[in-house]
Amino acid sequence: MFKAIDAMQPSFIERSLAQVWSEISPLYCVDESEWLKELIPLAQASESEREQTRRQATQLIEQVRADKKAVQMIDALLLEYSLDTREGILLMCLAEALMRVPDSHTADALIRDKLSVADWKAHLRHSDSLFVNASTWGLMLTGKVVTLDESSEGKPASVINRLVNKMSEPVIRQAMHQAMKIMGHQFVLGRDIDEAQKNGEGPRTNGFTYSFDMLGEAALTQEDAKAYLNDYLQAIESVGEAKASYQGPSPSVSIKLSALHPRYEAANQDRMMTEMFETVLVLLKRAREKEVAITIDAEEADRLELSLALFEKLYRDPVVKGWGKFGLVVQAYSKRALPVITWLATLAREQGDVIPMRLVKGAYWDSEIKLCQQTGHHGYPVFTRKEGTDVSYLACARFLLSDHVRGLIYPQFASHNAHTIAAIAGMATHNDFEFQRLHGMGDALYNHAKALFNTDVRIYAPVGSHKDLLPYLVRRLLENGANSSFVHRLVDARCPIDDLITDPVDTLCANHTLHNDRIPLPLDIFGPSRKNSQGVATDIESEWQPFQDSVAPFMGEYQWQAGPIVNGQRLKGDTHAIPAPYDNDESVGHVDWATAEQVNDALDIAAQAYPEWRDTDVSERGKYLLDLADKLEANLGELVAICHREAGKTIHDSIDEVREAVDFLRYYPEQANALQAAPLSYQGFDEQAQSLTYQGRGVFTCISPWNFPLAIFLGQVSAALVVGNTVVAKPAEQTSIIAYRAIELLLDTGILLGSFNCCLAVVQW
Ligand code: FAD
Ligand code: 2OP
Repeated sequence: MFKAIDAMQPSFIERSLAQVWSEISPLYCVDESEWLKELIPLAQASESEREQTRRQATQLIEQVRADKKAVQMIDALLLEYSLDTREGILLMCLAEALMRVPDSHTADALIRDKLSVADWKAHLRHSDSLFVNASTWGLMLTGKVVTLDESSEGKPASVINRLVNKMSEPVIRQAMHQAMKIMGHQFVLGRDIDEAQKNGEGPRTNGFTYSFDMLGEAALTQEDAKAYLNDYLQAIESVGEAKASYQGPSPSVSIKLSALHPRYEAANQDRMMTEMFETVLVLLKRAREKEVAITIDAEEADRLELSLALFEKLYRDPVVKGWGKFGLVVQAYSKRALPVITWLATLAREQGDVIPMRLVKGAYWDSEIKLCQQTGHHGYPVFTRKEGTDVSYLACARFLLSDHVRGLIYPQFASHNAHTIAAIAGMATHNDFEFQRLHGMGDALYNHAKALFNTDVRIYAPVGSHKDLLPYLVRRLLENGANSSFVHRLVDARCPIDDLITDPVDTLCANHTLHNDRIPLPLDIFGPSRKNSQGVATDIESEWQPFQDSVAPFMGEYQWQAGPIVNGQRLKGDTHAIPAPYDNDESVGHVDWATAEQVNDALDIAAQAYPEWRDTDVSERGKYLLDLADKLEANLGELVAICHREAGKTIHDSIDEVREAVDFLRYYPEQANALQAAPLSYQGFDEQAQSLTYQGRGVFTCISPWNFPLAIFLGQVSAALVVGNTVVAKPAEQTSIIAYRAIELLLDTGILLGSFNCCLAVVQW
């Protein structure tokens, strides 16, 4: 097990690379509080460091706040429409959604939907900025026009109002797009690399250098990927040509791997290590010829292990060997950050070429959290308190600045936080590192910091057109609009300097828990009454491997035998061979289809069982289903194998299929309890107290399709059962095996025999 404090021992990076690698993945969702306890000693500053950091951070903040040009119009907008106001969130949603909406009709509907519900008046004149007030006027007007039309629906005046409405929304749409363009200008240096080089002349002559980023990510097609590759090649050419005009360190190019291949995902590891490898190698070859350093940006946490494997292969290639200008980004909000950096140091020690490494906090926090909740992971790969991330950042910095890492990794500290910058300067005993900032952010801060610390500063400058801007812009708006963000609080004059310069170790330890207990773990997001269904982090080696081991015994030759189940008894019928849909030569097993007689028996038995089942307490009925949900999760490997082999679903879809069934099995008992646990009271029209009770209706027949062979099958059946009906179910003949296994598991719960019968693929129903 990785011990953070051991990383400060020089011998730590002298272990084998394989050993260091094996410690990364298991920390994917490590217990946050326990892990932070490990990191705190590394982040903890000595008394003299603390004193110096406080003094220098205060000085920086005072200088920025005194600088009249420091607050830009975008800062004022995001301060007024902060993401902790409803209006801020609405604007954010709209900004994000509008650029994705392909047709104007839907865009207008979206505008109508979003803008009419907020209190824009409350923001009017709050801000001194003309831009903010102008936009508030516009939004207020919009809200009014839209409301007018909606309230007058069906009245004679509605014709005129609709006209106004029709005219206004496209105008607003244009205005919103225009506003997005204005915001784009803030964060993008130029539409193409030549324009960007020209626009960067000012900072360049003041000794700043650049890392150019060609906008574009998440390529969907090979054509997209090719276009982005060309953009990067052009950037390398242009930066190579202009290099001589830089007074400070040479400019570089930053690349996003997701732009270079449409299937940049762990499931396609083979293609990544061949096709993607070849593509990036083309870039690296040209970059080395032109002496333009390349940095691979960090993207989503699920891609981390894949990107490291690819980095290693490229780093070891003769094209890169001996160069020392090929680097990458590590995100400190990741629980794996420190182990990853120790692995990089070990790799550099082995090969002898320095690795330039940008340390960031991480720009995808919101989506990381949401994605884990959606996919039902058992924990988060990122910290859940901002100060947790700050502590991790400082712990990583301490390691990067230690003597035994010097010369192996060239640290590039990217942050717009005055405390973080000052703390790093305080930790450093040498000047062998640089700071980095984003174009359009931290300008004033770094104008002062550069002089104060006398270090190199590189500006990350996005280059590209409006159409590729959206994801980048959204990340910047989130960053600038969040009320926890340093840049947001810096421009807010109401925020005292003391609050901006507290040591994150102190802030973290002042909380009653080191993790954020207001963000429930992904499996607890529905509260105490219902557990979220458990998923699998298939892109993470340490999570994927045990899951794959649980599926493997049911792949290949494994065969299932299924047949009708009536009154808890497995019956014989006409036997049919079941081939895999993706390869008819692969046998999945055999199924006996029910006869018409067996179906009649099933219906009779279900009718007989009905009164007893109906009178069983609703919570008792629900317990069988909850038990079944747990049994499905315990048998996930087998059920996934059946979904895959019998229904032809991908492994991902198969996991989702089981999860949806589990969710139904937990959701319906909760709903049924609310309806049936006690009589519902209300007052009747005669003002008498009335009492309403619900009960089952009798026998339900549930017929389900093949495309959701477990989820829809169990969804129908569990809804009918839990409210007191008995059931005769018929799955699709194509997917009888999965249904059969589900029934076997249901019978294992001890459910009343006869309440539930399954007649597989009945001929002549
Ligand atoms: P601060 O305000 O001190 O920190 C904000 C950060 O704290 C957030 O971005 C988030 O990471 C973290 N945070 C916020 N709330 C929470 C919470 N509740 N729990 C845990 N953590 C939280 N980002 C990438 O992901 N990949 C890149 O390749 C990349 N390249 C960059 C290059 C440069 C030159 C720069 C300057 C930034 C880059 N970034 C990249 C963006 C970077 O991650 C953000 O700008 C950075 O996180 C902001 O940190 P800060 O120190 O400036 O601000
Ligand atoms: C981003 O694209 C800057 O790489 C960082 O958000």
